[in-house]
Amino acid sequence: MDRLKNKVAIITGGGSGIGRATCLLFAREVAKVVVADYVAEGGNETVQQIKTAGGEAMFVQADVSKSAEVREMIATAVKTYGRVDILYNNAGIEGPSAKLANYKEEDWDRVIAIDLTAVYLGMKYVIPEMLKQGGGVIISTASVAGMVGFPGSGAYAAAKAGVINLTRLAALEYADKNIRVNCICPGVISTPMVDRVMGNRPRDNVVRLEPIGRLGQPEDIANAALFLASEESAFATGAPFIIDGGYVAR
Ligand SMILES: NC(=O)c1ccc[n+]([C@@H]2O[C@H](COP(=O)([O-])OP(=O)(O)OC[C@H]3O[C@@H](n4cnc5c(N)ncnc54)[C@H](O)[C@@H]3O)[C@@H](O)[C@H]2O)c1
Repeated sequence: MDRLKNKVAIITGGGSGIGRATCLLFAREVAKVVVADYVAEGGNETVQQIKTAGGEAMFVQADVSKSAEVREMIATAVKTYGRVDILYNNAGIEGPSAKLANYKEEDWDRVIAIDLTAVYLGMKYVIPEMLKQGGGVIISTASVAGMVGFPGSGAYAAAKAGVINLTRLAALEYADKNIRVNCICPGVISTPMVDRVMGNRPRDNVVRLEPIGRLGQPEDIANAALFLASEESAFATGAPFIIDGGYVAR
């Protein structure tokens, strides 16, 4: 119940799906949670749910693809709670589905900005705080789409592969400074993102790709994030944690 006691955690994309489930779980484990999102409605709703359950949280509106807003997000957390122990770079967008010759350059730039550059920006601005306070934990949401070929996913898969290798190099650069850096590679998780991608199409074909025989739930990923945020993963750094119902094991 108190695996994150006295810890301050920023979770981006905290207004929906995996981010919201993680915010709720971290708050139950007694972290002070900074819910960051560029959509105020979802972020405020997450904060409300945490407070109703007796937890501690605040909302920060930030577009994580914008350098000044990421800097301000970290500064606000430090001003309010005094430190940042955990940064979970989770916000992301799926982008359009198109083969490369038809993939628009403006879509490429936007997806790379939100799904990859934002992770670098989060690291860039939180690491100095973590160095000052003597350590910390950085987690990012990559994807199985960053590990195997996903035709039609264009910039999304390229960005997620980038997140996996950014995780490795950040972990190596700061391993001796007590900063651990890991990422999670989810399979298909039942969130609003997947609802947008799949629309009304039946989920059976996707479920067949996940040998465990069901879609993942946001809580499956939140549980992995909790492990990575807590001291239980003290010897883990630089690693992509695959939570995919067996998808990439095929
Ligand atoms: N759902 C899946 O199957 C799946 C699989 C692999 C990886 N992921 C990754 O998990 C993460 C969370 O996705 P989800 O499925 O919960 O999706 P979601 O759409 O339910 O939630 C994403 C959240 O991120 C926020 N967001 C998007 N762009 C932002 C920006 N520029 N600045 C701040 N906030 C922003 C959205 O407002 C939303 O609240 C994403 O990085 C996604 O790529 C999801």
